Amino acid sequence: MSVWTWAEAIEPVPPQHRLTLGEGHTPLVASRSIGPRAGLSGLFFKLENLSATGSYKDRFAAVAVSDMLARGQTRCLATSSGNTGAALAAYCAAAGIDCHVALVETAPLEKCRQLLAYGARLHRIRGFGFRPEVTAEVLSALQEFGTRPDSAMQISAYRYSPRGMTGVQTIGLELPAQVTAPIDHVFCPAGGCGAAVAIARGFRWLAAHRGLARVPRIEIVQPRGNDTIASALRRGEREGREIVCETKISGLQVPNLIDGNLAIAECGSTGGTGHIVDDDEIWHVQSRLAREEGIFCEPASAAATAAVLRAAAAGEVPPDAVVVALVTGSGFKDAPSIERMTGPAAIPVVEFADFRRAVATPTTV
Ligand SMILES: Cc1ncc(COP(=O)(O)O)c(C=O)c1O
Repeated sequence: MSVWTWAEAIEPVPPQHRLTLGEGHTPLVASRSIGPRAGLSGLFFKLENLSATGSYKDRFAAVAVSDMLARGQTRCLATSSGNTGAALAAYCAAAGIDCHVALVETAPLEKCRQLLAYGARLHRIRGFGFRPEVTAEVLSALQEFGTRPDSAMQISAYRYSPRGMTGVQTIGLELPAQVTAPIDHVFCPAGGCGAAVAIARGFRWLAAHRGLARVPRIEIVQPRGNDTIASALRRGEREGREIVCETKISGLQVPNLIDGNLAIAECGSTGGTGHIVDDDEIWHVQSRLAREEGIFCEPASAAATAAVLRAAAAGEVPPDAVVVALVTGSGFKDAPSIERMTGPAAIPVVEFADFRRAVATPTTV
């Protein structure tokens, strides 16, 4: 069970170079509370948070690093807000490849530690991920050094790493077989927008080669503080714009367009549109996912469900629609967001007698 199940639909890599840590084939679970309470009977969560390194980026890294092995490359140069970095660090560790990651300045400590644990070299760069000019400089430096024959620049975007991105297409390839009814909408959190394009392409491959009758609407979700394309897509424009990023949501802090215009074209043509959600709303839904659905995810993941709720309230999603919200990364990735949910983590040690009294008292539900 890996992305290589779909070898014929993704970047061709000879079997002897195909690396896997068991990525892909993540569960799709029906909402038991959030959907029904919003009047939606068919809301599902795609649990990418359960992947090997805790995010869907493993699908990218599996293909990108296998492709490097096939090309005899020994040095991976990457940019990341943390999840791509952790995924590449893990697969590079398994492949014996040296991995350098330029990290967004505000990447949560847990993501930094995870990639250090895999033995990657981490470079946290001031202004990267916020200021478009610094972000552009980092990208061009990596492009310069990443073209050396022994090296590959890996960024989870079609603009830079189209081969690895075919691994992310497996989300779209997997989904139709996981539900009995055709899927109407897939809500995807978007930063650089590569994931949304990949999912649209996965469905399109099934339509072209496996007779899938209808490609669902691929809905793009951005936080208000990183609205590079969501509003433009909603207004019917063909191009997004660079912004100064103001969102606090890790993973969705991408001030440059990267795959943005491609996403406008490819997701727009599925009938999907752009959705804006506020950071507070995302944190609130992250907490609801944990408490009402038992899903422990990082804030970026909750953006998709926050947008589903807005769209349902606005009548943009019919009550009986089959809707998939992508849960893209694990709650373990971002401790401050969990602390926001639980309050400060001072957990008192109690005496046995106190514990006994507490469990003896019936809980009122
Ligand atoms: C958890 C999570 N969700 C969503 C995204 C957005 O992906 P993209 O930049 O391809 O739009 C990212 C990107 O880093 C992420 O880490």
